[in-house]
Amino acid sequence: MENLEISKIMNLESDQIDSCLNSDIIKVAVIGIGRIGLPTAILFAKSGLSTIGVDINKNLVEKIQNKIFPLNDEPGMKELFDDVLSNQKFSVTTDIQNALSQTNVVILSLPTPMTDENIPDYSSLESVGQQLHDFLNPGSLVIVESTVEPGFVENTLISIIEGNDKKFEAGKTFGIGVCPETANPGEILKDFKNLPRLIGGINKKSQELISSIYSHVFSVDLIPMPNCKTANAVKLTTNVFRDVNIAFVNELAILFEKLGIDIFTVLDAAKRKYNFQVHYPGSGVGGPCLPVNSYQLINSARSNSLSIPKLISISREINEKMPFHTLELLNDALNSINKKLEKSTIGILGISYKPNVKDIQLAPAEKIISKLKSLKCNVKIFDPYFISTNIFSIDSESKFEDMVKNSDAILVLTSHQEFSSINPEIFTKLMKIPLIVDTRGLFDPKELNKLKIVFRGIGRPN
Ligand SMILES: NC(=O)c1ccc[n+]([C@@H]2O[C@H](COP(=O)([O-])OP(=O)(O)OC[C@H]3O[C@@H](n4cnc5c(N)ncnc54)[C@H](O)[C@@H]3O)[C@@H](O)[C@H]2O)c1
Repeated sequence: MENLEISKIMNLESDQIDSCLNSDIIKVAVIGIGRIGLPTAILFAKSGLSTIGVDINKNLVEKIQNKIFPLNDEPGMKELFDDVLSNQKFSVTTDIQNALSQTNVVILSLPTPMTDENIPDYSSLESVGQQLHDFLNPGSLVIVESTVEPGFVENTLISIIEGNDKKFEAGKTFGIGVCPETANPGEILKDFKNLPRLIGGINKKSQELISSIYSHVFSVDLIPMPNCKTANAVKLTTNVFRDVNIAFVNELAILFEKLGIDIFTVLDAAKRKYNFQVHYPGSGVGGPCLPVNSYQLINSARSNSLSIPKLISISREINEKMPFHTLELLNDALNSINKKLEKSTIGILGISYKPNVKDIQLAPAEKIISKLKSLKCNVKIFDPYFISTNIFSIDSESKFEDMVKNSDAILVLTSHQEFSSINPEIFTKLMKIPLIVDTRGLFDPKELNKLKIVFRGIGRPN
């Protein structure tokens, strides 16, 4: 840093920050350059701020250093990536100590997964917190974009950064706040341009500085929050809302199958009422956010010795049973043509946890495939985002037709946009007895019926 005094941005007055944003005084490190951190770092660099992306994944860092953009399912980002690399505003490294020595704004976009026992795992944030204690420039500003439960920043992360030796004091010798990321994978650039951002700080100064910097980078509304924990609670509320509502329609779907009512017909009509917000059933809820976020709120209650939220817990239970309901439908469909699920060949269409993204984190497909393997089934996968890839220990097909041919059943787990052009007649041509189990409402049951395709679907009467 040329001028260490000015680089202490916690010493700046609000009216000084704008001029700093337009000179080269503010230098940003984004720690964790995955799905969220890399696009964030690119946008910061694009706004003219020198930005260093830091990651422990050497392969990822080398790829980016070789100008290979790793997120090809994010429309519009590749162009910005090329742009910031050629402007030399953006660089990447695995060396966090070196990156911290050159920067005075640090954004944490680290993963916050959960353990196999559904306990939130904040170990990445905790270990980087320790590195901040060791190497952060005094006077810097730390912004947590990772999704954490309310209180984690105030009660855990700050103590780690301050250290037992009290090297730092939050709000005084470093600023800290949160801007929980709410962008949707596959639509990150669009969301960056449209979604308002929540800004909470440990004190007013931290919050104001974060707001000034973010308003330089993003032209969206910034919503000031009274503190960090409220901002984190808003982020969790929006995602848990979805998890709970999906559980509600999953529960209805199973009931309506038995009552001879089609859930998609119900939802199409219901959504025309102004205060009904539609959610769709499926084979389960996956991804890095929704399931984890529900458990984060549950963990919040547990760690504060409060009663466990019942609705959230039961919603998780319902959503976690959907892969098994999917297998029941598959078994039932095969039995209806005198075939057994055991040792059958199942072609899976779509493996990602949601449409139009290359992401299998906590995808329901994993549980389904594991059960199919235990029944000695031959599992074939076709997913345009995973062509000829080893996935869940299966080599995926390169051609849709190869997945269909010789399969006893086609199981639709994700409805990528590419699948909307599939003409179901292909199944009658390539399968001996065409059979489809559709968990996503991809196919029209009437059309399949006309083609005499054996059909089961989540929320569909048979
Ligand atoms: N992906 C989403 O849909 C989404 C949306 C909104 C918010 N979020 C939240 O954003 C945060 C980041 O999620 P993501 O999807 O970008 O995760 P990700 O796994 O894609 O990226 C995280 C990156 O951090 C790196 N990393 C891990 N430990 C590190 C360490 N000690 N030092 C440096 N780098 C380290 C990993 O190598 C990885 O590249 C999470 O809290 C997540 O809940 C994710």
